[in-house]
Amino acid sequence: MSLQPDFIHEFIVGKSARTLVLLHGTGGNERDLIPVGHELDSGASLLSPRGKVLENGMPRFFRRLAEGAFDLEDLKARTHELADFVISAADHYKIDNRNIIAVGYSNGANIAASVFLLRPEIFAAAILFRAMVPLVPQTKPDLNAKHIWIGAGAYDPIVPSSNAKELVALLRSAGADVTIRFFQSGHELTPADVDDAREWLTHLRY
Ligand code: MLT
Repeated sequence: MSLQPDFIHEFIVGKSARTLVLLHGTGGNERDLIPVGHELDSGASLLSPRGKVLENGMPRFFRRLAEGAFDLEDLKARTHELADFVISAADHYKIDNRNIIAVGYSNGANIAASVFLLRPEIFAAAILFRAMVPLVPQTKPDLNAKHIWIGAGAYDPIVPSSNAKELVALLRSAGADVTIRFFQSGHELTPADVDDAREWLTHLRY
């Protein structure tokens, strides 16, 4: 008997073997990134969970103590919980588990980065909009053959450019192929981000 995926989520079956796992920002839900998922790859299946942590009623993927100050024990536990959800959903929906790409925005991008650092087997690649270093793992994961695109905001008041660059350095030091782009924006997601990420995804080979 297969495990039931235990997050509230949407699953939209696509025409290709690829699945995008969509991870929303603080205060979002499982419907937020569906249009972005279709824009990034109109043929892919979309799996979009809702974060289980509530901060003043706003869904998130892990607890924080303050902006940019994460509850690391909760983050680690939630990272494994999300990774296990992806595994059980892949089994349940008959998803090709070598062809799963994370697409995260803000808090969703941060937990996606954490999945790479703690459970590197889950995603083949990722598109991370406005991500920061979620944690520094005790043991460096093997991220060879992983491809990660990061979209940063040059004027982001939540993620300083230095932090986005630290994330790039951390992922590269573990062997990942990382592309970073800076956009003339703050923390918000822009059409230019989505265009650039789509272009990258179209040419991605793994
Ligand atoms: C986070 O808490 O993950 C980051 O501060 C981004 C946010 O959700 O505002």
